[in-house]
This record gives sequence, structure tokens and C-alpha cells, in this order.
Amino acid sequence: MPRILRLAGVVRQGVLEAGVRGYMQELANAIAERYYERKLSIDTRGGVPVPQLDRSLPDSLDYVPITYRALMSCFRKVHLHPGKSEFLDYGAGKGRAVVFAATLPFARVWGVELSPSLAAQARENIKSASPLRCRAVEILEMNAADFEVPDAVDVIYMFKPFLGATLVATIDQIRASYVRSPRAIHIVVFNDEPFQDSVEGQDWLRKIHTSTLDAWSRAPIAFGIYATEPRPPASHNDAWHGVQED
Ligand SMILES: C[S@@+](CC[C@H](N)C(=O)[O-])C[C@H]1O[C@@H](n2cnc3c(N)ncnc32)[C@H](O)[C@@H]1O
Repeated sequence: MPRILRLAGVVRQGVLEAGVRGYMQELANAIAERYYERKLSIDTRGGVPVPQLDRSLPDSLDYVPITYRALMSCFRKVHLHPGKSEFLDYGAGKGRAVVFAATLPFARVWGVELSPSLAAQARENIKSASPLRCRAVEILEMNAADFEVPDAVDVIYMFKPFLGATLVATIDQIRASYVRSPRAIHIVVFNDEPFQDSVEGQDWLRKIHTSTLDAWSRAPIAFGIYATEPRPPASHNDAWHGVQED
């Protein structure tokens, strides 16, 4: 069959499955993906469902890389102090968000990933990536729930890494770091309903932004940004026990 007819068949099938608008959005995402993967010299494509991961927990979610367009939208809204801010990606996968963050003037970029093979691919991608502005990029192969958040981290990012007890324990780690070292921390959370439920009623964190990126994929992607105050709230509760006032 001539190439042009084969191509027409692929387009027709795509439009039937996603509708004209959905197909155009997916095409735009695919073009952006190809462009940025080449520009950054990395390969973070290809999802891996939990049953095929070499290590997962009952709360773990699949490896699915974020779209570059969604990544850019969220970074535009995050406040960073050039040369000072530190970035943390929970569930770094093959390292797409970590590498993208390292093209920005972060002082340090951290990625925590449970799966050994994904962590290894993330490290390979960091090695091959160019050009990076931040050279202090580290992938920790471990359960996010056990990771003690470094006290200089002030931008945290979660693209659907895990739910349940792991999410709760991770939030506790962020809070412990804030209690040790009170500072403004911005936390970007995609599909943030479970996160919002877990921090309900906690006064150390408030939601400062919400977006729905319905033009970016077949299913709308929502994200919320949560922030701590540079200093803890005046209310006295157990969370602030031991915090030194200066
Ligand atoms: C949806 S992917 C996010 C990929 C990447 N952050 C991005 O934005 O492109 C979720 C990742 O979380 C990882 N993950 C799941 N449970 C984890 C845990 N308890 N600790 C660390 N990583 C975990 C998965 O292996 C998967 O790579």
C-alpha cells in the first residue's frame, strides 16, 4: 500500500479513537516530546505498568512520563531562587522532570525512585543530557517514604507517584524538614485530590494555586500548588514542638 494511504489510515484511526481535538492535542504532545527528548539528548519515553516494574509497593503507581507541555506549564508557576533553590522529584522514573529541572538555575536537583532499573535509566539520562545548568543532580534509589527531605529543598514535585500510606509518610517527611528548618516550600502535585485529602486540616500548608490542563492530553491533567509560610504559623500545636524561634 502506498505510504500516503497508510498515513491516512493512521490519522483516520487516531481521529476515530480520540476525536479531532484529542488527536490534534496528542499530535502536539508527540511533536513536543520528540523535540525535547532530542534537544536534551535523553530517552525517557515508554510507560512501564506496576506489574512490570522490578520493584514496587502496594501504593505505587505506573511509570508514565509527564508531557513536556504540562511540565513547562507547572514550572512557569513555581517560584525559584536562582542558584539557591533545590528541587525534589518524588518518583523520578527515567528522569524526565529531573533533567528538565536541571536546565533551570537550581542549586541542586534530587530524584527519588523505587525501581532499580528506572533509577539506572534516570542516571544514564542525566549523564547523556545536555545542556544542563545545574550539575548537582542525584538519583536516590529508595522508597520515598524513607527519604529524609534535605533542609534546603524548596520546590517539590509529584506526578502521580504513589497513594495511601506512602503518600502520608512522605508528607510527614516534608513536614519534618519544614519543622527542622522553617522556610517557604512550594509543592506541585498533579492529580492532587489524594494529597489534598491527606493534608486536610493541617495548618503548615495551604493551597495557593490550581490548574486544569485540559488542552494537553485526552484526559484533563489537574495540578495544585501547595506552599508553606517562610515562618511557621503562630498557632501552637505539636508540629512546632522543638522549633527554635529566633
Ligand atoms: C508517574 S511516574 C512519574 C515519573 C516522573 N516523575 C515524571 O514526571 O515524568 C511515578 C514513578 O513513581 C515511582 N514510585 C512508585 N512508588 C514509589 C515509592 N514508594 N518511592 C519512590 N518512587 C516510587 C514509580 O516507580 C514511577 O517511576
